[in-house]
Parts: sequence; structure tokens; C-alpha cells
Amino acid sequence: MSRRLHFSLFRHNPRDPSSVPHQDHFQLDEQPGMTLFIALNQIRDTQAPDLNFDFVCRAGVCGSCAMIINGRPGLACRTQTRDLPDRIALYPLPVFELIGDLSVNTGKWMRDLAERLETWAHLAGMPDLDRMEEAMDPDLAEAIYELDRCIECGCCVAACGTARMRPDFMGAVGLNKIARFRLDPRDARTDGDYYEVVGDDSGVFGCMSLLACHDLCPKSLPLQTQIAYLRRNMVKAGVV
Ligand code: SF4
Ligand code: SF4
Ligand code: FES
Repeated sequence: MSRRLHFSLFRHNPRDPSSVPHQDHFQLDEQPGMTLFIALNQIRDTQAPDLNFDFVCRAGVCGSCAMIINGRPGLACRTQTRDLPDRIALYPLPVFELIGDLSVNTGKWMRDLAERLETWAHLAGMPDLDRMEEAMDPDLAEAIYELDRCIECGCCVAACGTARMRPDFMGAVGLNKIARFRLDPRDARTDGDYYEVVGDDSGVFGCMSLLACHDLCPKSLPLQTQIAYLRRNMVKAGVV
């Protein structure tokens, strides 16, 4: 027999001066294979046409559907209701600017981060377009690809105690990006250059190493190893 699911959804429109943050309650019959994406669409189609939430890919690739699911950050499109109790509370991710209800502006936060950390390869000079591209060692390419799997969902930032206390903290997503460019042989930046960007409390030394980011990253990125490795190298770069 299918369960009756009870949803408690955060509602607020920050652009409406009369809007007061509150929870709205909805019920649905659970269906086989139901994800939170399906449930939220059913609620919007049948009970709350003005409900705001974000989805693009429905496949854990775009990172736009992250929200707080019964107290933990996660991707709504990859979360099956059968893995949750019959009472489901959904909130928008903290830290990011609220657009409305369950929708937050992770895009602006990630763009600002990319500009601050300059997350592009800093070449030593102009590339010679007449030369063949140099092949990269496959193991190194694989290691870079592993860190490039980040979908910028914001779960690691929402789970992070430091990010909740320090608006300038770059989170595991930022530290992971620096770890990725440190690996890249095309990037001419030295550890001294990286230290200028992440060698303080808004970067690697603000991290409390409690590793909620590592536990909750939906792409299972090796954040624990990367943060520890980066910290070790930034300590060395800071004392040189
Ligand atoms: S590191 Fe993981 S949790 Fe953080 S933004 Fe990337 S994919 Fe999401
Ligand atoms: S280990 Fe560091 S980056 Fe990860 S959640 Fe904790 S304080 Fe944030
Ligand atoms: S909708 Fe793209 S990750 Fe969930």
C-alpha cells in the first residue's frame, strides 16, 4: 500500500514586503520511483502553482536542485521519497541569496567565486596555435577530471559551519577548484601565487576540518584529501 507523504515546504518571497517566511503543508500519495523532483512538480501542478524551486537536468548534473532535505543538503532530483520518512521538510540552501521559496541564487555566488579565484588556466605565454597540442599524462588527466566533476550545487557550502559564519569563506567548492588548477600543468601559477588567493581565513586556514562537505557532496568528490593536501602545501608556501 502506498504511503501518504506529508510535505512541509518553506515559503517566502523576499521581493514582496508583505511576505513573511513560513511553512506550507501539502500531502501526496507516494508513487513507485518518486523523487522529490516529481513530488514538487505534482504539488506545483495541483496545489501550489506559485511554488518556486529549480530544476534543469533531473539527472544530478546541473546542480540547480540542491535544497535542505529533512535537515541535510542534497539534490532533490536524486532523492527518492522511499529513502525518506513520510514527513518531509524542505528548506532553501542557507548562505546563498534567496530568490523565493526553495530557489536560491547559487549562480551569482559561484560566478563571484570564479572571478575571485580566477578559475581558469593561467598560461605562461601565448599558445603557439601552429604546434600540435601536447598530450597530457592519462593518470594526471584522470586526476584533474576527478576534481572537475564538481557541479557547483552548493551543498558543501550549505553544510559548512565556517561558510555560515564568514560570508567571504570560499567553501570546499572553492578549495577544490584551486586543488584542480594546482594539478594542471598548463597553469603557470606557483604555490606562492595560490597562497595569495587561499592562504588566509577566507580560504584554507578558515576550514575547521569537520568535513560535512566531504560527507554530503552528492558527487562524492575527494574533498577531505584535497583540503588536507592543499593546507599542507599552503603552509609550506606561507613560510617560504
Ligand atoms: S564540491 Fe560537491 S557539494 Fe560542493 S559544489 Fe561541488 S559537487 Fe556540490
Ligand atoms: S571541512 Fe572545511 S570546507 Fe568542509 S564543511 Fe568543514 S569547514 Fe567547511
Ligand atoms: S535538476 Fe540538475 S542536478 Fe538536480
